[in-house]
Amino acid sequence: MLEKVKEHIDNVQAFKADSKEAIEAFRIQYLGKKGLLKDFFDAFKEVPNEQKKAFGQAINELKELAKEKINSLKESVASQEEEAGIYGDLTRTGYPMEIGARHPISIVKNQIIEVFSRIGFNVSEGPEIEDDWHNFTALNLPAHHPARDMQDTFFIQTDPDVLLRTHTSSVQVRYMEENKPPIRTISPGRVFRNEAISARAHCIFHQVEGLYIDKEVSFADMKQTLLYFTQEMFGKSKIRLRPSYFPFTEPSAEIDIYWGLKTETDYRITKGTGWLEIGGCGMVDPAVMTNCGIDPEEYSGFAFGMGVERIAMLLYQIGDIRMFFENDVRFLKQFSNAL
Ligand code: PHE
Repeated sequence: MLEKVKEHIDNVQAFKADSKEAIEAFRIQYLGKKGLLKDFFDAFKEVPNEQKKAFGQAINELKELAKEKINSLKESVASQEEEAGIYGDLTRTGYPMEIGARHPISIVKNQIIEVFSRIGFNVSEGPEIEDDWHNFTALNLPAHHPARDMQDTFFIQTDPDVLLRTHTSSVQVRYMEENKPPIRTISPGRVFRNEAISARAHCIFHQVEGLYIDKEVSFADMKQTLLYFTQEMFGKSKIRLRPSYFPFTEPSAEIDIYWGLKTETDYRITKGTGWLEIGGCGMVDPAVMTNCGIDPEEYSGFAFGMGVERIAMLLYQIGDIRMFFENDVRFLKQFSNAL
């Protein structure tokens, strides 16, 4: 009899279980109403007196051991369940994580900022909702100036003084008002024009405008700066400045770069000329400087502006400007290995 109890003590010690069901079956086997311990306690009466002490101790030990075993197994199963709840199945293989991509407009904008920062330009930003002064009047476009029509402005209807900026020249006005020359700043940002949407034009787009003001700044300085930019950005080393008109610069010019005529695409995008317009530029009009608190007798400067979408379309051979705003992942994913 005693031998049997000892055997069960060994069994209980060796017992392992990792489910609630197995633990419950084990409990019933030993501690249940018809369990083994009940049998042993019943058998106690039959045991000869001289063996009662040793047998009683053994069955008590077995009972305590079984209880302890059940408690510790229950605890470990519960903590396993809790961990699984927090971490899930720790043995599963990892999900492949999709890496996002920077938007092509951000990529190109950052590239432009980088190229100009190397020659000492800082970055300035301003509000997208502007007032008439910063978007027009300070830039030599007083009320009723015909050139205002060129800009297809979105007005906030209740207040004709509040509008969506049509160019980031408004940021340059703010910058001049708040900073003394020398000024070397570029202003990237989103602009708005009430234009019909097509493959080539959108009512929302991005510009980077630049402003350089110091003593004795000349047209040649501007051309050299723009040439540096086109070389760094496009690897093209020929530009021309075609006379043009902007109310805020005098003289003014369109910036053309020589793209070449090597491929059929070159022919198509340059309309067979090899030349491509990428923006406007000019010497800051003295009236604009005066409006912004800078003395045009003492200082001179140049400004330029270009469309980021247009540059991105050229660099990545994108045929339709609307792609930038649709956020189709099949389009965006193609830029995941760009910087
Ligand atoms: N602000 C002009 C535009 O949006 C671009 C420009 C900037 C032209 C600076 C000349 C000088 O079209």
